[in-house]
Amino acid sequence: MNILVTGGTGTLGRVVAERLLATGQRVRVLSRRPAPTGTPYGWCTGNLRSGAGIDQAVAGVDVIVHAATTLGRGDVEATRKLVAAARRAGSPRLVYISIVGVDQVPLFYYRAKLSAERVVEASGLPWTILRATQFHDLIAAMSRVQRRLPVTFTLAKVRFQPIDVGEVAERLAELAVDEPRGRVSDIGGPEVREAVDLARTYLRAVGRRRRVVPLWLPGKTGRGYRRGGHLAPDHAVGRITFEEFLRRSRP
Ligand SMILES: NC(=O)c1ccc[n+]([C@@H]2O[C@H](COP(=O)([O-])OP(=O)(O)OC[C@H]3O[C@@H](n4cnc5c(N)ncnc54)[C@H](OP(=O)(O)O)[C@@H]3O)[C@@H](O)[C@H]2O)c1
Repeated sequence: MNILVTGGTGTLGRVVAERLLATGQRVRVLSRRPAPTGTPYGWCTGNLRSGAGIDQAVAGVDVIVHAATTLGRGDVEATRKLVAAARRAGSPRLVYISIVGVDQVPLFYYRAKLSAERVVEASGLPWTILRATQFHDLIAAMSRVQRRLPVTFTLAKVRFQPIDVGEVAERLAELAVDEPRGRVSDIGGPEVREAVDLARTYLRAVGRRRRVVPLWLPGKTGRGYRRGGHLAPDHAVGRITFEEFLRRSRP
């Protein structure tokens, strides 16, 4: 199949593109950047926000895996532009990656993802949506970005269920070559753990001595997180723990 991966240069999309190529699919990557030398992929330079290059990116594809994100409201408009181009190009299947709890935790970014899901559902294209919990990379990055501070802040009374990006990519790659499935079962990591515990685990792994300071997130978003709206304990299908991820990736 001819498969376009939007966000094929990102944390998740890069691994999806690798998996698809390894299973014999013809993979095209959409990026705002020019093709790196020696890329094994078909490459389209374009921008989902402006719409530049999108018609060329979707031309002749059977499936679009939409893993690009602009990390905010731009995601809705980007998804609209992608859908419109896909419809003009003969209505390939659209596989979208979303986040567990986008309808439970009213974080600005989650609200945008929920609206983007609605755009996919109403697209008239054959579609599949997979929601995943936070990637290990994100949990690690939340502590890493604070490396110059004397303490490490984290969220009080909030748990996460981080998952390895390779496991999400594998599921997404499976769904890409499958029939359209609508909303499929969520995918979550193997363990639900306190944010404080995850921050301490990260600091131990990188050999950094810092006090971990839990902060109370106010408002509806804080309540949504504390209630665990972003968790999927009944879908703890990931096997790679945060410790294992840290051992492998040495962030
Ligand atoms: N991170 C998590 O914990 C997590 C958990 C569950 C679900 N998800 C979802 O998984 C998806 C991928 O997340 P990620 O963490 O892998 O993202 P990421 O590493 O931030 O990558 C974002 C990608 O989007 C592309 N992009 C950004 N703006 C663009 C634009 N205007 N036009 C075209 N491409 C654009 C970037 O490509 P270029 O820079 O090359 O243009 C990049 O490849 C997102 O939809 C996210 O919501 C993430």
